[in-house]
Amino acid sequence: MKKTSLQQVIRGKHLWESNNCMGCHTIMGEGAYYAPELTKVVERRGEGYIKAVLMSKTSWAPRGRKMVAYGFSEEQANDLVAFFTWIGNTDLNGFPPKPDYKSTINSK
Ligand code: HEC
Repeated sequence: MKKTSLQQVIRGKHLWESNNCMGCHTIMGEGAYYAPELTKVVERRGEGYIKAVLMSKTSWAPRGRKMVAYGFSEEQANDLVAFFTWIGNTDLNGFPPKPDYKSTINSK
């Protein structure tokens, strides 16, 4: 696992809260259901993909629904990844259940 400092995790949590990510996403099931659950996003997507989403200057919308184009700096993106890594490593007793992606793989 990549080494992250607690300071980064805290900065990432502040970015999470001050940018209304929960207006569209959930973490541990809390938030809105417009966009993917992010508790295990580091495991699911990997750091590079997440940073591309967060630093994008245009709306990220691989399947039509649009994310806000935050255009975060690399440092801010790293802080958010640290927050997601920390969240992803908490013991959630199996939550969220692993989705079956096969049914969505070819849908646009
Ligand atoms: C206006 C709604 C909206 C807001 C607000 C929003 N997002 Fe998103 N986000 C999306 C959509 C839509 C996607 C793309 C989903 C897809 O793959 O179809 C996305 C994708 C992502 C992904 C990749 C998830 C995956 O499983 O592929 C990450 C990580 C992410 N957003 C983080 C954030 C963070 C962090 C914030 C707050 C700083 C945020 N989002 C705010 C709508 C939003």
